Amino acid sequence: MTATNQDPITAVEIVLPGRVDPDGLKVTHRDLPAPRPGQVVVRVEATGVSFAEQQMRRGKYYDQPPFPFVPGYDLVGIVTRVGAGVDGGLLGRRVAALTKVGGWSSHIVLDAADLIAVPDGLDPAAAETFVVNGITAWQMLHRIAKVRRGQTILVHGANGGVGSTLVQLARAAGIRVVGTASTRHAAAVEALGATWVDYRGNVAEQVGTLAPNGLDAVFDHIGGPGIVDSFRLLAPGGTLVSYGTASTKNQEGNSRLPVLKLLARLFWWNTLPNKRNAHFYNLWAGKRNIGRFRRQIAEDLGAVFGLAASGVVCAQVAARIPLTEAGRAMELAESGTVAGKVVLVP
Ligand SMILES: NC(=O)c1ccc[n+]([C@@H]2O[C@H](COP(=O)([O-])OP(=O)(O)OC[C@H]3O[C@@H](n4cnc5c(N)ncnc54)[C@H](OP(=O)(O)O)[C@@H]3O)[C@@H](O)[C@H]2O)c1
Repeated sequence: MTATNQDPITAVEIVLPGRVDPDGLKVTHRDLPAPRPGQVVVRVEATGVSFAEQQMRRGKYYDQPPFPFVPGYDLVGIVTRVGAGVDGGLLGRRVAALTKVGGWSSHIVLDAADLIAVPDGLDPAAAETFVVNGITAWQMLHRIAKVRRGQTILVHGANGGVGSTLVQLARAAGIRVVGTASTRHAAAVEALGATWVDYRGNVAEQVGTLAPNGLDAVFDHIGGPGIVDSFRLLAPGGTLVSYGTASTKNQEGNSRLPVLKLLARLFWWNTLPNKRNAHFYNLWAGKRNIGRFRRQIAEDLGAVFGLAASGVVCAQVAARIPLTEAGRAMELAESGTVAGKVVLVP
């Protein structure tokens, strides 16, 4: 029997009930409301496991909603229903969306204005790896640091979701990349076109040898004491782009404090006459101007999808795991053994 536009849809959702280990995630079912005017229903084909969910399950993500909630930062899927005022031509189209939460679901109601078209021929899981990672990497590289062909950058966590995308985008733009990762990921990082540096060794010393004149940009999601080295490694005119505090993931206490401390430090560095710049990148920062925010997301993700569709950048899918096994997927993502992104497939 074919479902009509009126039949209720029961979505399978993964709920984060509170601070739990990955095996504490719950599989639940919920009847979806009909899409309101301007909204659509998307049948999710792929949704990513990001570092953000690792922080959320510890209650450590900067502005996460109160428990319980459905996590899931981004997704790719097919539009199956449209609300009033939405172009019917969207039905059956493959789209991507950045959700921050809610993506770990078989079906989801979204605003049509937040959808970005996925080019034909791009596999849904492959496209998924570029949504939050591609937008973040592209904006940091081209909108914040504005790195140019022939310059040299340092990418921390070059095997991770954002890191592996950043390395590839930079290489595609003719930029020389040094990438940190653990020893087990050395070959994967080098295969992306970066020069590998062991993050458990003396990073400053290793990078200093590779780039004696300093770096044009450093991308640091680790924070903590190591951020001082990230700043010191810059050449005059260089830019530090800080975008996370992974090193404080397991620290007890207020989840906002590490970010606020980091912001204060970056602000202080920018006031000193050191000819270097320090930025904190926050993907959501421009959301107050929603029209511009959506335009930039569509433009930047469109550019990354274009490079993916033409084979210039290659999706790093670490594993495809059924949505209902989200706990296992999270354990894998947190194991430190993966190169690229773990993708959930409903
Ligand atoms: N500011 C923003 O708007 C924004 C947007 C998106 C993402 N982010 C941030 O981007 C970061 C990466 O996200 P992702 O989804 O790409 O994560 P991911 O795929 O889990 O990758 C994380 C990477 O960081 C490395 N790492 C983790 N803890 C580390 C530590 N203490 N010291 C050194 N390296 C460490 C990991 O190495 P191993 O594999 O060896 O563990 C891995 O290479 C996260 O911190 C996330 O919060 C920020």
